[in-house]
Amino acid sequence: MSPLSVPLLALMIGSALCQYYDYESYPSNLLGPSGPNCAENCDCPMNFPTAMYCDRRGLKAMPSIPPNIKYLYLQNNQIKEIKAGAFVNVTDLRWLVLDNNHIATGNVEKGAFDKLVSLEKLFFSYNQLTEPVGPLAKSLTELKMIGNKLSKLPPGALSGLDNLTSLHLQENELTTEGIAEAFKGLKSLVYLDISQNKLGKLPVSIPSSVSMFYADHNDIASIPEDYLQQLPVLQYFRISHNKLEDAGIPAGLFNVSSLIELDLSFNGLQSIPEVNENLENLYLQVNEISKFDLGSFCKVIGPLNYSRLRHLRLDGNNLSRSSVPFDASNCLRQAAELTVESTD
Ligand SMILES: *[C@@H]1O[C@H](CO)[C@@H](O)[C@H](O)[C@H]1NC(C)=O
Ligand SMILES: *[C@@H]1O[C@H](CO)[C@@H](O)[C@H](O)[C@H]1NC(C)=O
Ligand SMILES: *[C@@H]1O[C@H](CO)[C@@H](O)[C@H](O)[C@H]1NC(C)=O
Ligand SMILES: *[C@@H]1O[C@H](CO)[C@@H](O)[C@H](O)[C@H]1NC(C)=O
Ligand SMILES: *[C@@H]1O[C@H](CO)[C@@H](O)[C@H](O)[C@H]1NC(C)=O
Repeated sequence: MSPLSVPLLALMIGSALCQYYDYESYPSNLLGPSGPNCAENCDCPMNFPTAMYCDRRGLKAMPSIPPNIKYLYLQNNQIKEIKAGAFVNVTDLRWLVLDNNHIATGNVEKGAFDKLVSLEKLFFSYNQLTEPVGPLAKSLTELKMIGNKLSKLPPGALSGLDNLTSLHLQENELTTEGIAEAFKGLKSLVYLDISQNKLGKLPVSIPSSVSMFYADHNDIASIPEDYLQQLPVLQYFRISHNKLEDAGIPAGLFNVSSLIELDLSFNGLQSIPEVNENLENLYLQVNEISKFDLGSFCKVIGPLNYSRLRHLRLDGNNLSRSSVPFDASNCLRQAAELTVESTD
């Protein structure tokens, strides 16, 4: 096993566990005997009395929820609506998982979420939301609305969510105008994913706390100068599968010391943009790059001390092995996976 695959494997195991914890359906026979007051078809394990598992039970409507429940799993059902009183019993609910149901914004009665004053995680992916539900509790830390039909986040939809660290909005129909001011004031936000939307530009007013920002699969052709100056702790930046060309990338844009990973693959770049010596992973595959500008990513920091680059992908460009200059090995010796497809 190469040294490289060790952390990768650890990461994969970590995320698998995480997923099990968050999402996986728990078969009834693993949950043990169910406590009293549990909704029909659901399980309320006596050894975990604050959780109610109703995932994958064929539910067509919200079940009644006994008091004291803090973790409610309703994913993978055919629930269509949420009535105003649905959560009257559970003002202490922390996690609400509604992924993979048929809930449209118009079928969520006004005030339904007002009762959830302690909510920390709301998972509402793969439903039919055209606008976010809410207003949501200020205690919220994680919000997922992947795979809905959101075209905009009205101003104020997320306002006051001071503790929100993670926001997943991929696979929607969001437009540049529709999210213009949406993220303003989210002062704890660390993770923002707006991939697979209809954005022509990156949104302005991204909170300065963001360190992971993903905007793959949009229609972005340019990035404003100084865009990354408002993101001083940004480490992972992905804008693959967009319409970026050299003309849309101001000089020095990516020369920021916080970046560890930059994914610009599947765009229309003609040259390798300049990056900082701290960057470790640079993905540039499937662009139109025809010259190997070593100086853009290989910097001499001191004697025998070069850029930290570990992975550089350049396959699917107009480059060949022979266009890689000999001294590239100084930068790439430490790792480094260099993938240059042969076009000879
Ligand atoms: C509230 O809890 C009571 C007692 O368990 C139950 O009968 C009722 O259906 C619950 N209401 C809702 C809306 O969940
Ligand atoms: C936000 O998080 C902090 C620290 O975990 C906590 O003390 C505070 O109560 C939270 N705010 C709300 C509104 O829940
Ligand atoms: C890139 O940024 C560094 C500081 O992090 C600076 O010293 C250097 O001059 C910049 N490179 C260019 C070409 O502007
Ligand atoms: C390379 O330079 C960096 C930045 O000055 C320094 O932190 C690091 O220790 C140096 N590494 C080696 C092997 O000299
Ligand atoms: C590809 O590279 C070759 C030689 O480096 C050059 O002659 C040719 O014009 C390039 N093609 C494109 C589409 O840039």
